Amino acid sequence: MTDTPTLFRPLSLRGLSLRNRIVISPMCQYTAHDGHLEDWHLVHLGRFATGGAGVVFTEATAVQKSGRITHGCPGLWTDSQIPGHAHVAQFALRHGAVPAVQLGHAGRKAGMQRPWFGNGPLTEEDFARGDMPWQPVGPSPIPVAEGWPEPHALSLQEIQTLVEDYAAAARRALAAGYRIAEVHGAHGYLIHSFLSPLSNRRSDAYGGDLAGRMRLALEVTEAIRAVWPDELPLFFRTSAVDGVPDGWSLEDTVVLARELKARGVDVMDCSSGGIAGAATAAGGAKRQPGFQVPYATRVREDAGLATMAVGLITHPEQAEAIVSEGRADLVAIGREALVDPSWPLHAAVALGHDRRFESWPEQYGWWLVRRQDSSEFYRPGGEG
Ligand SMILES: Cc1cc2nc3c(=O)[nH]c(=O)nc-3n(C[C@H](O)[C@H](O)[C@H](O)COP(=O)(O)O)c2cc1C
Repeated sequence: MTDTPTLFRPLSLRGLSLRNRIVISPMCQYTAHDGHLEDWHLVHLGRFATGGAGVVFTEATAVQKSGRITHGCPGLWTDSQIPGHAHVAQFALRHGAVPAVQLGHAGRKAGMQRPWFGNGPLTEEDFARGDMPWQPVGPSPIPVAEGWPEPHALSLQEIQTLVEDYAAAARRALAAGYRIAEVHGAHGYLIHSFLSPLSNRRSDAYGGDLAGRMRLALEVTEAIRAVWPDELPLFFRTSAVDGVPDGWSLEDTVVLARELKARGVDVMDCSSGGIAGAATAAGGAKRQPGFQVPYATRVREDAGLATMAVGLITHPEQAEAIVSEGRADLVAIGREALVDPSWPLHAAVALGHDRRFESWPEQYGWWLVRRQDSSEFYRPGGEG
């Protein structure tokens, strides 16, 4: 009888107990219609719930219609969008996974191409498909990169409305049954563009020094926390570094994490990059296994806040080492879950936690353990 690997020890966050430390990272599907989730989303996210993850994140979900990244991105800006999310959330709950939603606004990157159509600003070809552009917004009229549209700089009144819309979307997320909300403060989208000195050149209360640039992130967090129940956790995804000279730094992230903690954020989800161009992970940093984990470790140590590590975490032993060595509290799996939606179940086998399909849905497990025990079962290298 071996000890339970840390990866498979339940984690309590406020009034919630996660069955393990594995989170499926938010991943845009560019497949929603007019901001409404589709059957695709239920199947896509449902596989992660039956695949054993502790938490399953729905992709970046816009709090305003104009805050969608692409025409195919979902939202929670109107009540008619609640049922689609409820379907996903209820399914996850029935299968032991905690449903989580990432609330965001694309800001300067709003209205771009779906990745498979180019991953850049919309072109004539996209217009011909019916994907018409709309006016992106940001802290200042500075485009994401050359060739991208110039954003409209939000007025104080528009910022006020935006903050209220975050709270309204959080209320809808709660009504849908989500148990975790995450503020999308990363990847060059609206909140990140206010944080970074590269994109924020405002001279009012929402720009200038670090406190000014953090103001929007903190006000959004406060507004969501005010409607998000005390017993449910709130996450914040940050781009821990811009990876561009004179950009947002890890030191800034630690300061932000302390402020977020004081406002009721429970977990800092540490990604990076995205401030210049379409890419997410920070330019400059070599993308190697777990390359963003040190950000999660630093925030955890210096801000005393629980963290989630993400980025090229693909192997069970790697994930186990991250959480057992205290480098992060949770690990988020993105693309590897697209390869194997049952990654957590397979990780449980690999780490010797479940060799008898006990954590599998009974519809599968009952059969699989019998097949495994039967003489018909082919074992590579075995007797056949
Ligand atoms: C298809 C796809 C869509 C993504 N959409 C989002 C998103 O909606 N929100 C977000 O914060 N990150 C998004 N990301 C980034 C992932 O959440 C994750 O941080 C990144 O893929 C690195 O983790 P990985 O190496 O395990 O894939 C997306 C990544 C992929 C591959």
